[in-house]
Amino acid sequence: MIHTFAALNSKGGVGKTTFLANLGGLLADMGARTLLVDADPQPSLTKYFGLAYEAPQGLVEVVTQGVVTSACISGTSVPNLDLVRSNDGDANLQHWLHGRPDARSRLARALQNPYVLEHYDFVLIDTQGAIGPLQTAAAFAADTLVSPLPPDTPSVREFRSGTLRVLQRLEHDESEPRAQLAPIQAVICKFDCTRNARQLLSELRAEFDAGDRVTILDTVIPNAVAYKDAFTARRPVHQISRQGGSRFPSGYEVMHRLVWELQPNLYGHFAGRLTGDPEEVFGPPEATEAQGGAT
Ligand SMILES: Nc1ncnc2c1ncn2[C@@H]1O[C@H](COP(=O)(O)OP(=O)(O)O)[C@@H](O)[C@H]1O
Ligand SMILES: [Mg+2]
Repeated sequence: MIHTFAALNSKGGVGKTTFLANLGGLLADMGARTLLVDADPQPSLTKYFGLAYEAPQGLVEVVTQGVVTSACISGTSVPNLDLVRSNDGDANLQHWLHGRPDARSRLARALQNPYVLEHYDFVLIDTQGAIGPLQTAAAFAADTLVSPLPPDTPSVREFRSGTLRVLQRLEHDESEPRAQLAPIQAVICKFDCTRNARQLLSELRAEFDAGDRVTILDTVIPNAVAYKDAFTARRPVHQISRQGGSRFPSGYEVMHRLVWELQPNLYGHFAGRLTGDPEEVFGPPEATEAQGGAT
């Protein structure tokens, strides 16, 4: 069964594209056929890995024609990782979608076609840090909404009063039939271990306790130069950050733990199509300082 993730956060610069690129890169390296969909008019995800093959079409045709065809699918430099590139440089799609009766379901329908279902295991949709019809369409196409969240006061405030409130409003839009969005998985990212970040993280964990619509994932993405180096090298972080430091686990460990939290059926699967016992490889997950646990 195909699984679709959409990265959403009403704030820009929080780490959506970085997270999705690294998630897609690892899933592909585990052997899962993965399709990235760049729904940000600023084509950051499109540029992340570079293209091994550039398809003539991209997101504009997917949305306006309402279907994903092979003509819309580019190949990235990572095996198993394809891309619907962003080709909406003038940001016309938001206007094009606005007011269309099927705006909300258009991307979901476009992705639910036999071509995608036959060729992919995962679809990962990146969005722009704002809220509009294109982000709404991405939200309604997702089985899981992932919200990268740096634990700093402006980002946490915007998450509560922007992202979460907008998502709630979408579900109760009076001009549309009632529809439920997928659960929200917040991924703490750019965590820098400061006292303020640890304080905010423990408040968030208390606020969104188990059973809520919002889950704060246990695995935390540190603020680490490896994520910038990976971007510069145009590679997924698990390939370039194999050894953890004294304060933070490696990109390899962090991204594996995140994949396993998001997709428990992949537990024990590693990059390079290897399998093994995670506890033997990484040791038990500890409530270390870097995880925002007791210190
Ligand atoms: N975990 C991280 N550690 C260090 N820098 C990061 C991390 N995640 C993202 N960044 C940097 O933050 C900036 C914004 O990230 P990006 O993924 O483009 O955010 P968004 O897509 O939400 O706008 C980029 O320069 C990126 O390299
Ligand atoms: Mg981005």
